[in-house]
Amino acid sequence: MSGERMAGRDLVSLLDFDSASLGRILELALEVKARPGDFSKALERKTLFMYFEKPSLRTRVTFEAGMTQLGGHAIYYTAADGKIGKRESVADVARNLERWVDGAMCRTFSHELVEELARLSKIPIINGLTDWLHPCQALADYLTLLEAKGSLAGKKLAYVGDGNNVANSLMNGGARLGVHVTVITPEGFAPNDAALSAAHEAAAETGAKIEVAHTIDAVAGADAVYTDVWASMGQEDEAAARKKKFEAFQVNADVMARAADDAIFLHCLPAHRGEEVTSEVADSPRSLIFQQAENRLHAQKAVMLLLLGGV
Ligand code: CP
Ligand code: NVA
Repeated sequence: MSGERMAGRDLVSLLDFDSASLGRILELALEVKARPGDFSKALERKTLFMYFEKPSLRTRVTFEAGMTQLGGHAIYYTAADGKIGKRESVADVARNLERWVDGAMCRTFSHELVEELARLSKIPIINGLTDWLHPCQALADYLTLLEAKGSLAGKKLAYVGDGNNVANSLMNGGARLGVHVTVITPEGFAPNDAALSAAHEAAAETGAKIEVAHTIDAVAGADAVYTDVWASMGQEDEAAARKKKFEAFQVNADVMARAADDAIFLHCLPAHRGEEVTSEVADSPRSLIFQQAENRLHAQKAVMLLLLGGV
């Protein structure tokens, strides 16, 4: 159990929390999943503001349903309603929100905007994806790996594709939780030096190996093979050019055959079937993609309970 106090804190990056705190979130997520009724009034009369600059199915629905299931309420607000920093300064938005609501979840292009909101407002700010990180996704992913394999420390996750926000958060989570993460990308698409050095620094404590490779044979021995879209939200113009560069990095039956015999397949979704993953793999018994999507709900309920003071 962590000595860190979590109530009132922000979740901008998984590196904001120590290993014990991330373990506590996963442990609580399992409790919430097993006994949702025990938490049905935990956030009674609490309100979560949800701000979206990008589309969403999973993040919007799981945060909103999660608040309802905890006895609270969520407000959906998009950049079309009023872009933060454009219609009104970030500081003024932060100082308004903290007078009305108990927490805010933000999905933005700019990572700095979420960091700024966290710095300027007194309420917990939860990162629901930026161009840089997707921490709530990685929490659900490690919850799924934990359920599938029974433990996390020493397990091997091979992430295949673009060194993007999802890859960065998987590296951060792996570093803190002791999961070895190999990010396998075409040349030129590896996570950048800042992302790698932050993860390496965090990994020193757990001994997790965080590595980059550029050939698909690096999936050998992986307990989980993970992929994501080749062009993220905001990179639509690059999609055609990327398709050619990423062709050799499709997760198909041959790639799964190179991983451990009991390897699971993970994808944050949405999937572009026939591009980064074949339907054969996505719909195979080894694919836990919908359990993973379900776990967004449980992991984020745990995050909201801890940060908004419901437990
Ligand atoms: N995985 C994920 O964040 O999905 P959405 O973009 O639909 O929220
Ligand atoms: N890397 C993807 C993740 C979507 C959940 C994106 O940013 O679009």
